[in-house]
Amino acid sequence: MTIDLAALPHDFLWGTATSAYQIEGAVAEDGRAPSIWDTFSHTPGRIDGDDHGDTACDHYHRWREDIGLMRQLGTNAYRLSVAWPRVMPGGDGEVNPKGLAFYDELVDGLLEAGITPSVTLYHWDLPQALQDRGGWPERATAEHFATYAAVVAERLGDRVSHWATLNEPLCSAWIGHLEGKMAPGWTDLTAAVRASYHLLLAHGLGMRAIRAAAPGAQVGIVNNLSTIFAASGSEEDVAAARRMDGHTNRWWLDPVHGRGFPADMREVYGVDLPEQPGDLDLIGAPLDWLGLNYYFPQTVAADPAGPAPHVRTVRRDGVPRTGMDWEVDASGIEDLLLRLTDEYGARRLYVTENGSSYPDTVRPDGTVDDPERAEYLTAHLAACASAAGKGVPLAGYFAWSLLDNFEWAYGYDKRFGLVHVDYRTQARTIKGSGRRYAEIIRAARERGREAA
Ligand code: IFM
Repeated sequence: MTIDLAALPHDFLWGTATSAYQIEGAVAEDGRAPSIWDTFSHTPGRIDGDDHGDTACDHYHRWREDIGLMRQLGTNAYRLSVAWPRVMPGGDGEVNPKGLAFYDELVDGLLEAGITPSVTLYHWDLPQALQDRGGWPERATAEHFATYAAVVAERLGDRVSHWATLNEPLCSAWIGHLEGKMAPGWTDLTAAVRASYHLLLAHGLGMRAIRAAAPGAQVGIVNNLSTIFAASGSEEDVAAARRMDGHTNRWWLDPVHGRGFPADMREVYGVDLPEQPGDLDLIGAPLDWLGLNYYFPQTVAADPAGPAPHVRTVRRDGVPRTGMDWEVDASGIEDLLLRLTDEYGARRLYVTENGSSYPDTVRPDGTVDDPERAEYLTAHLAACASAAGKGVPLAGYFAWSLLDNFEWAYGYDKRFGLVHVDYRTQARTIKGSGRRYAEIIRAARERGREAA
């Protein structure tokens, strides 16, 4: 499969992505306080194998080695998240200097290595202290987020220009408060809808705070979106697909593009939004960029008796699947990039996450060959380049993930890394997919040099 590298801009960001709780470990070090994920993962039965992030990839101590891996891959960008409970352990009050110092050094280390940092402020690790006061269903949590965002932007804003407020608010709201499969583990539609509203309010307030603290900051939000298919041509299934599109895509895209919350979905949920005057303007303030996390498409049928949005997922026959049982369909990433451009008028887009989990085998000689992951990567990059060739303003791609890491409710069993991690020894080994990524990046650079 060939990737039309000529379609990508010469200053394209070739990155990898991670998040704090999934890799850092050191959960009780240097003043960090627990987050909702510490609580959730230490609740028996919540996580496969009762795994938790206490040590994870020990990145807190091994970040220099991890920057070395990025250099070996040849990447020029790295998407990381800051742990709110490390920087502001109580959520709203005192700043922890040691927490801030960690990210300060990390950013310096990346810049010295010629790697552009892209900083996400919230990748699901709400300080437990704020959860104890009601969490995302409460408006105050959004206000505290803005205070925290300002603190981090003031400290790093002289060196970091690329900021995301939230990662995948869908997961925090729907999976955390409606399905109960992620922290805080609730199954309450009213709480979930209120959480979704306050997460997007936090995005708006946070964006304003970052811009005030770091003029010149480029601020965006990262959404996980899916292409949605109807299981049949029946009126019911087509309507179900429309609802699923609302639940997965439009609920998160419309408000941040100044269109408010979709009326059809407000009706489906039947929950009053905790709106206050001015909120929609804040939430809908123009973005500098939009991040797309894409993994798989979804096919749905109507399920009138099921919980909102009253759909059930249907398996498509003959479609390959990853180790997560997620469908592999690279056309979805292209379709979504085109949709964001055509329907939402996106001016700058990044693929902020894309990747696959497969059960890797370490060979007796210590190497890890993962042809399926390498193929997934190549096919999705080819689809991205195809979108760029059709005029999509795609400025970068961040592979998920740099390292194998703590895959939330699935624990350590699911591996997404371009780099294998032996959790017993913390040894890192670049997989075949990592070598493939390095080859693609090298080819893109050579092509850029030739074109110059
Ligand atoms: O590991 C997660 C990440 O934290 C958010 N996006 C999806 C990834 C794979 O499930």
